[in-house]
Amino acid sequence: MKPLSARTAGFTDSVIRRMTRICNQYGAVNLSQGFPDFDPPHVLLDRLAQVSREGPHQYAVTWGAENFRRALAAKQSKYMGLPIDPDSQVLVTCGSTEAMMCAMMTVVDPGDKVAVFSPFYENYGADAILSGAQPIYVPLKPPAYQFDPEELEDAFRQGAKALILCNPSNPCGKVFTRGELETIACLVRKYDAYVITDEVYEHIVYAPHVHTYFASLPGMFQRTISCSSLSKTYSITGWRLGYIIASPEIIDVAKKVHDFLTVGAAAPLQEAAIPGLEMGEDYYRQLRQIYTEKRDFFLKGLDDLGIAHNVPQGAYYVLLDISEYGYASDLEFCEAMAAKVGVGAVPGSSFFREDVNHLVRLHFAKKESTLQGALERLANLNKLKK
Ligand SMILES: Cc1ncc(COP(=O)(O)O)c(C=O)c1O
Repeated sequence: MKPLSARTAGFTDSVIRRMTRICNQYGAVNLSQGFPDFDPPHVLLDRLAQVSREGPHQYAVTWGAENFRRALAAKQSKYMGLPIDPDSQVLVTCGSTEAMMCAMMTVVDPGDKVAVFSPFYENYGADAILSGAQPIYVPLKPPAYQFDPEELEDAFRQGAKALILCNPSNPCGKVFTRGELETIACLVRKYDAYVITDEVYEHIVYAPHVHTYFASLPGMFQRTISCSSLSKTYSITGWRLGYIIASPEIIDVAKKVHDFLTVGAAAPLQEAAIPGLEMGEDYYRQLRQIYTEKRDFFLKGLDDLGIAHNVPQGAYYVLLDISEYGYASDLEFCEAMAAKVGVGAVPGSSFFREDVNHLVRLHFAKKESTLQGALERLANLNKLKK
């Protein structure tokens, strides 16, 4: 038989989902794949129950149900500080995952180059392969995960047509400062490039850090494809609701890609999510508060156990430093940790372009009881020392 597509030959199985399978095998507390184990807001669940009886149950408008787009545009206009037109500047997708893929297919042709900060969320590598783009990695340097503007400029000099900007960042929890974003904006203007943002953690930011939407910088809306989703903000990762916000010219093209990729996001779930989009500032303040408590609780637990880690400014991940355990492979460490300690993590190497083997990522989007259980197990981490 003829070989299957060469495009997929370089794909590996997702390390994150593989770690989930390993966790299930050993009954480990799964802190690898980032999703909450607590309920979404009740207004969404109540509306979902109603919608199950009343509909809609058939296709929504392919670029998003009109009432969902209106509610989303109103909410994003407020937080992004930009007047967003629900008809011409919004495209509803199946999660930020589809939004990012759709944005890449909209902006790049096979052979084009895209700049990607490293560490990066693992989907960006696959997005680049599927759209035929060639990634140029720009390091974010620990411990503050800052980039060197010279290195970023070099990526643009080499012809990067777009930059992928995950802010707040998974896995390192970096929240880009306004100054850093302005530096990026200068380069984007100078080299006539685009920025594709992934802002799924826009509302999960720890004081004193604040989230700045790249599209809100002067002159940047026209050059930015803002991707995000409802997954993390409303604890509904399984509903698969995401979106792109961009200029009408960009949205027109993205709509075509999206239409042929998925036709559209689930109509009943768009309808049921509207009350979430209509919630006031209190909800987002409370969300920040809840995640701040989770972060502080988990990080204090790690400190009490003497486990070295970074301090995230946003998102819900923490990187543990495993240098002292004597493993050459972080994957081997994660497998041993799931099997012998009973906690699932993701090897840091799956996020870094550089040769990094001394970090593993845990997430803390869990109930306090789950985090407490994980910390009790992590008390045995010393057993893994070689
Ligand atoms: C940075 C980042 N982008 C996108 C996603 C996936 O988002 P969605 O559920 O909206 O597809 C995740 C999930 O962990 C993520 O961490």
